[in-house]
Amino acid sequence: MKSVIITNPISQSTLIRKALDNHGLIVFPTETVYGIGASIFDPIAIQSIFTTKGRPQDNPLIVHIAEQSQLEGLVTDVSPLAKKLMAAFWPGPLTIVLPKSLSVPSLITANLDTVAVRMPKDPLARDVIRAAGVPLCAPSANLSGKPSGTDFKSVYEDFFGKVSIFVEGGIPEFGIESTVIDLTSQIPTILRPGAISAEEIETVLGMVIVSSSQAENTPKAPGMKYQHYKPYGDVIILDGTTPKIIEFLQSIPDQEAVFMGANEVCGDLFDLPLNTFALGPKDHVEVIARALYRTLRTLDNLKVKTIYTHTFSKKGIGTALMNRLEKAASQTISL
Ligand code: TXA
Ligand code: MG
Repeated sequence: MKSVIITNPISQSTLIRKALDNHGLIVFPTETVYGIGASIFDPIAIQSIFTTKGRPQDNPLIVHIAEQSQLEGLVTDVSPLAKKLMAAFWPGPLTIVLPKSLSVPSLITANLDTVAVRMPKDPLARDVIRAAGVPLCAPSANLSGKPSGTDFKSVYEDFFGKVSIFVEGGIPEFGIESTVIDLTSQIPTILRPGAISAEEIETVLGMVIVSSSQAENTPKAPGMKYQHYKPYGDVIILDGTTPKIIEFLQSIPDQEAVFMGANEVCGDLFDLPLNTFALGPKDHVEVIARALYRTLRTLDNLKVKTIYTHTFSKKGIGTALMNRLEKAASQTISL
């Protein structure tokens, strides 16, 4: 398939429409991770998202909108709680699960009677949706089993010749997928942690919410049952102080392992023989989160067999960072 790279979705909207008319897919940046999108009204294109990514069919897709008015026709009810969240966090990295209207193809929602909707903040993402003239359903742009794409090179590597359009953008602001909150359960439930924290949501809603690990008898984000991705190497989380980490690393014979962590910890490991990947300052988990997937992809490409890392503060996006790291990890060693 021929792929076209564009940088300005509005002035190049003819190309976007042509691609969509031909059941094509569009890879585009958002403020979280890159997405691979199709018109929500084109079952052929939607099916090809699953095939192109190698994604299990029972893992539903998020519908992306550019304007509040596009919500009409997607959902049957927008509750007062939903309105509060939209006013506070849209456009932005919050996906809201609401009761689905009949016009949303069940292929998108894996036959659930709910639909996940998000209005991205990235201007390029919203321009793509505007140029398309329809909401776009889009999972993260990565082959199933790889980290979500957080730079153009990664998504180009995965999808060149497999999608019609690439919208070239920069490095996403957050680097980790959106927070998914289910408003169809009795108590609002976070199904996937992301940049918008539970505390921020509780402040806006004025009530205590639950996270899916605590919530019993509530449906979980189907995607969360899959291992997020399988890194080429083993990711091992070392849970302990820096002196303990140094002591542990000195005791291992594996010269080919690498260490990935906060700048300060990598600095303290300078005299050890192993290579280190410094993700950002310890107290700025948002910088570390932005670098995580890109670094893991680099390590995959280098075919590194063992990747040691450490635990990070669970403040703000730190909860999401640790969630993704724990999903990628084969084990955590308490030191
Ligand atoms: O930041 C993001 O959300 C990115 C960008 C591209 O917008 N998208 C993304 O999509 O991460 P994906 O497909 O990789 O993850 C969607 C998650 C999955 O865990 C899926 O199970 C869940 O959302 N989900 C989608 N529809 C749902 C529904 N109706 N009920 C519960 N969970 C749903
Ligand atoms: Mg994904």
